[in-house]
Amino acid sequence: MRTHYIAGNWKMNTNKADAVKLAQDLVKELKGKKNTYMIAPPFVYLDAVAQVVKGSNIILGAQDIAANDNGAHTGEVSADMLKDIGVQTIIIGHSERRHEIGESDMLINAKVLKSLSKGLDVVLCIGELLAEREAGKAEQVCAFQLDAGLSGVTKEQMSHVTIAYEPVWAIGTGKTATPADAESIHAFIRKHIAKLYDNKVAENTIIQYGGSMKAANAAELLAEKDIDGGLIGGAALKAETFVPICIL
Ligand code: 13P
Repeated sequence: MRTHYIAGNWKMNTNKADAVKLAQDLVKELKGKKNTYMIAPPFVYLDAVAQVVKGSNIILGAQDIAANDNGAHTGEVSADMLKDIGVQTIIIGHSERRHEIGESDMLINAKVLKSLSKGLDVVLCIGELLAEREAGKAEQVCAFQLDAGLSGVTKEQMSHVTIAYEPVWAIGTGKTATPADAESIHAFIRKHIAKLYDNKVAENTIIQYGGSMKAANAAELLAEKDIDGGLIGGAALKAETFVPICIL
């Protein structure tokens, strides 16, 4: 049985004081709650937030990682550095990095492999653009991003991989995929993982939905068979909007 995995991607938001306060509120309010929780603050506040979530039931995530090891890579943050301060999981291939920064599937794959080889967990984000959905290519795009992102990832390593399906047209727009539309892609993703690995791996893989998820729509999305959690942006920036999703 897969339990819900609810993650807050804070993106480029908060300041240090707000980040610490939000983490403190979440530690208090999620104490003893049964789902899996992760928050991914901006890099510069990770260390401060790490002190707050230490020993709690909240996993500390980073929003990106370098594909390289320590060395001459200006502006990059390595797996070793992230592990050093208590980061356990990495969001990789977020659509804002794919489409704003221009990250390629090859680079995303390198980051996935680097994270796993260093003992870090991964949330691999995939999802189609509006034009791709309208052209009937949503499944094709997701399959390609899975094939590329998971290239070289072993069956054993898949227990450290979560997939986040985030249709790009639903991110920060207030437009959510209907539960039926989201379920249909989630079921397709699970089938595709079974094709790449086997049924057991597919059954055990957590597939999160992301894109304007909030308390008002989370229950019906999470009620779908293949939607195992959420990767939440806007609604994760305040305890009062994030906690109600966490405790569903
Ligand atoms: P919103 O919840 O703000 O739409 O963001 C979703 C997202 O991109 C999480 O990674």
